[in-house]
Amino acid sequence: MNSFLSLLLFSSLFILTLSHNNGVARTPPMGWNSWNQFACNIDQDLLTDTIDQIVSSGLADAGYKFVNIDDCWSYKNGRDNKTNELIPDPVRFSRGIHSLSKYAHSKGVKLGIYGDVGFTTCAGYPGTLDHFQTDADTFARWEIDYLKLDFCDIPKKVQDEPWIYFGYMSEALNKTGRPIVFSICAWQPKEMYKWARKIGNSWRTTDDINVSWQSVLSIIDQNRELYPYAEPGSWNDPDMLEVGVVRDGRSLSQNQARTHFSLWTLLSAPLLLGNDLRKIRDPDQKWVFDILTNRDAIAVNQDPNGAQGRSLYQNIQGKIDRDGNCESKNCTRTEVWGRPLTRPTKQSYAAILFNRAGPNVDDEKFTQEKITIRWSSLGMPSDAKVRVKDIWSNKDLGVYQGSFTSEPVEKHNVVYIRLEQQ
Ligand code: GAL
Repeated sequence: MNSFLSLLLFSSLFILTLSHNNGVARTPPMGWNSWNQFACNIDQDLLTDTIDQIVSSGLADAGYKFVNIDDCWSYKNGRDNKTNELIPDPVRFSRGIHSLSKYAHSKGVKLGIYGDVGFTTCAGYPGTLDHFQTDADTFARWEIDYLKLDFCDIPKKVQDEPWIYFGYMSEALNKTGRPIVFSICAWQPKEMYKWARKIGNSWRTTDDINVSWQSVLSIIDQNRELYPYAEPGSWNDPDMLEVGVVRDGRSLSQNQARTHFSLWTLLSAPLLLGNDLRKIRDPDQKWVFDILTNRDAIAVNQDPNGAQGRSLYQNIQGKIDRDGNCESKNCTRTEVWGRPLTRPTKQSYAAILFNRAGPNVDDEKFTQEKITIRWSSLGMPSDAKVRVKDIWSNKDLGVYQGSFTSEPVEKHNVVYIRLEQQ
């Protein structure tokens, strides 16, 4: 065989092995995950209640179909002596994981689970290294629909070439023949999106989110340039939602939560709820429910073109330090983000007009701001006529030529608009 032919054969084998062509997650996955609110305090009752609530509250109808168990579900002290399989925690998951997936399926939703590519998970439970096919087969037998594979406690070989080991799991999942969303949770390696998109359906782009405005902003900034890597079947994952999460007495304000959700939908992020769904129908949670079920915002996220939103321009006036504080008398800090859509027509777009202001919403050096978007920044002709719909107020704002300027936007809040070129 000449060297060109062998190179061709080698590279096509390489591509064949790595491609995670499993046909799932053609739009960003939507569901719930136990970690942000509950960490290790999970058991089968919580999961069963969450399955009940996600269905009866209407969240499943709005698109949230996955109920995902995160870390701490397995028996901590080892695998099955004979089969080497992972064992569900005999106390907290005494009915096993398969009974939960059967229950989820009987209610029309799906079940996800969590593992780790190293020796142990981040909370110290058995990892999957050297057991990739065994664990994939176990998950398939349990009729699991989604696997998040984490990156803790790894030997140097995995640190150096993570794509090989995540690739083993990708192949092992494919071999089971069961369509399982593969979510890569490797937050550490630089530029992981360059390889992860060939192996997984999503990949974490950043460190763990926490319930703070600073965390949300830092993640937005780190995802600013990643739009080229998202496409149907493979998504940048800026981590799970903190909308409605209350931890250690901390929570996002309504404006901050609305901004967080708006950006995540525009960025084609997986939408994994982190809040306690057993409370979702309490009257004081209505605003949380309303944010999470906004049809237009979800339609942006689920648009079949899979285009990830981009930062179009930022308006920074005054002297702003590295932490975002204003060092002059007054400051302005606004951002405009946008993306094309294919619905309701091929000439549709979505845009976010964001008054980022300073880190502290009470800082009087920043004020409400009117924010302008020019149609040319989205690639439309500069004199285009465009119908503007406000996503959060659900109002048709009329037709605007060339550009649109919002009413004053509160600090840490957004105006989120859907646009149809006329
Ligand atoms: C982290 C991961 C979190 C959560 C946690 C569980 O590495 O980023 O989302 O899964 O581990 O221990």
